[in-house]
Amino acid sequence: MYKLVGTIWGEVGLHKFDFVVAGEVRRNEYVKVWNELDGWILGRVVSIVDAKKKIATAEIIGYKDERGFLMQPKNTFARDEKVFKADQAFIMDTLGLKSGGIYLGLIDGRTIPVYLRKEELIQKHCSILAKTGSGKSYTAGVLIEELLEKNVPLLIIDPHGEYISLKYENRNEEERKQMEKFGISAKGYASQVVVYTPSNLSINPDANKLFRIDGINLSVNELYDFFPLSDPQLGVLYQCINEIKAKKEFYTIEDIIKEVAGSKSRAKWRIIHYLERIRETGILSDSPTRIEELVKAGRASIIDMKGAEPKLQEFIVYHLCKEVFEGRKMGKIPPFMLVIEEAHNFCPERGFGQAVSSNILRTIASEGRKFGLGLLVISQRPARVDKNVISQCNTQIILKVTNPNDIKALSRGLEFMSSEAEEEIKRIPQGVALLSSPSIEMPILVDVRVRRSEHGGRAAGMEGEEESKEAEVETDREEVREVRKSMLARLLFE
Ligand SMILES: Nc1ncnc2c1ncn2[C@@H]1O[C@H](COP(=O)(O)OP(=O)(O)O)[C@@H](O)[C@H]1O
Ligand SMILES: [Mg+2]
Repeated sequence: MYKLVGTIWGEVGLHKFDFVVAGEVRRNEYVKVWNELDGWILGRVVSIVDAKKKIATAEIIGYKDERGFLMQPKNTFARDEKVFKADQAFIMDTLGLKSGGIYLGLIDGRTIPVYLRKEELIQKHCSILAKTGSGKSYTAGVLIEELLEKNVPLLIIDPHGEYISLKYENRNEEERKQMEKFGISAKGYASQVVVYTPSNLSINPDANKLFRIDGINLSVNELYDFFPLSDPQLGVLYQCINEIKAKKEFYTIEDIIKEVAGSKSRAKWRIIHYLERIRETGILSDSPTRIEELVKAGRASIIDMKGAEPKLQEFIVYHLCKEVFEGRKMGKIPPFMLVIEEAHNFCPERGFGQAVSSNILRTIASEGRKFGLGLLVISQRPARVDKNVISQCNTQIILKVTNPNDIKALSRGLEFMSSEAEEEIKRIPQGVALLSSPSIEMPILVDVRVRRSEHGGRAAGMEGEEESKEAEVETDREEVREVRKSMLARLLFE
């Protein structure tokens, strides 16, 4: 029958209770207690208060009423009421966990599977936020595998070339041993994954194809997206392009450079400089990559940014986002999921830099769902990602976060972040996630399953750690600056 874990003791509140532990109990264990009025109530052990006296504290989660709503008990438990370990069916029912869908892992410490609903993930966006090395890319890889199993098209912006390894089955011995526990088997997705490089195949030999942008008949507006121009410079460019148009049906960037070089204006040098820089990136072509090729059922297209400088990366993201958003509106491509790694670089929060891709990402975050364009944003600096983008993500996966500014940013952006949750995320081990999703009644800790395919970020983790320390030092400097500013303000104005 039910396993007894203790007896209620001391003050009993409506939200919490203490109990004397009988037998084994860990933090985060789910327990249940009988309530005269409402029946069985689910609780979760939040702390072992006194290990010697064996007193534990549990928070009350509640029960499902006849309508299926999660309710809080209306009266307190009787003193001396027995506390039992909660059984799987009761936990799943009360938390609203369903079987089937996108399999993320197991409830921490139990064998209860956690599934997300595919539609919710795609239509309502998802964020994965945590410090470097905590398992963000790994978890994103798990979601990508699951979406590939369901034939959902994916477009992955991959600044570090971490996702190529989706092609190969997981060879890690430790992780293979855990596959049985999670009920999965190793698998590579080579037949579904295509890697594109905006550079070339000698810089990026692992890529399958080149990623190119249409370089034929570029308009002034399109060029203006690449680089900022003053009014006189714009004037020169307009005039030159009009003159070429009068002569040619099709023109390339080469033609524009020649025409501008022939101009008498002194403003031409800056323009030529910019145009040559674009030409040198090699991104323009007369056989551009078509979005119909990138976004296809059962296919994950990876844009591997290795070798592309940051400004070009931003431009590519901007350009791609604009095209796929338009493409989705017009029904040229099927509903799909857009994965953005290092999102703080492509849609930074105000005050933390600017990116040409910011606006379009904000638009996709707020309007994408109407058109079946889902976002998966990943970042190690929650505080530095555009708040408007983060706040549109209905599924949040948070792994370990320690930086105080990032925790503050999370608390501000996510309504479920209680002070307990703040403490929790500082301590959670690698690979465990705090999950909040419309699919479940309340946030839960999930032991994210091991990968079926190889994880590509293993070596990168080490470099990342350094980067993260640097970032934290930088944050501290910012704080000092803020304090100085306010001290100065006080001196000046008070
Ligand atoms: N769910 C998991 N199961 C097993 N190992 C994991 C899991 N999540 C992360 N790891 C380990 O943690 C390391 C770092 O994860 P990674 O996703 O690369 O970190 P991040 O992207 O947050 O910097 C991985 O190389 C892997 O060994
Ligand atoms: Mg990573």
